[in-house]
Amino acid sequence: MIEEMIFEVLMTVVSAFWIMVPAYVANAGAVPFGGGISVDFGKCSKNGRRYLGNGKTWRGLAGGIAVGVLFGLLQISLAETFDWDLPRHTLITVAALAAGALLGDLVKSFFKRRAGKDRGEKWPIADMYDLVAGSLALLAVFAWSWVFEYISVWIFIAILIWTPLLHRGANIIGYLIGIKQVPW
Ligand code: CTP
Ligand code: MG
Repeated sequence: MIEEMIFEVLMTVVSAFWIMVPAYVANAGAVPFGGGISVDFGKCSKNGRRYLGNGKTWRGLAGGIAVGVLFGLLQISLAETFDWDLPRHTLITVAALAAGALLGDLVKSFFKRRAGKDRGEKWPIADMYDLVAGSLALLAVFAWSWVFEYISVWIFIAILIWTPLLHRGANIIGYLIGIKQVPW
């Protein structure tokens, strides 16, 4: 009885992570790829603030999405080869998650600049959940039936708990190895 419950909780936590891997990898992948021309081409809005800022670049966007999709394809082939009892990704779900994570990040930066916060400044809730909102929004648009099949309320809750922990951990590692300017 208790073993079954522990197993259920573990499966929920692992499935939540498995679902989000393409989004997490895309978000982290943008950091080493980042640099060069910024997505807003350096332009400012009427109040003189940048639309997005130098932290959002085309290279980061494209490179992040590419590695996110690549990891997703690896997940698809692993799950098939070993017949794992985990949510089965498709090309559509990995692409939606990877692209959605970084689109959510762009939208976040747009509002962050409007709120008067500079690049890299802390903006707690938004900085952590931008990728969840963006990736799940695109997933819902392009793979609604998949969301219905695999994302239960418990999995959704696990995603909400997992993401800030991983986000924080990854940012600290990025900072320590010198590819991120701030540890958040
Ligand atoms: N990055 C990028 N292009 C993106 C997203 C991220 O080049 N589309 C790179 C940038 O070098 C950025 C780093 O990844 O500095 C970390 O990303 P993030 O924390 O999202 O950006 P911040 O610099 O904190 O900028 P913001 O305040 O706009 O979130
Ligand atoms: Mg940031």
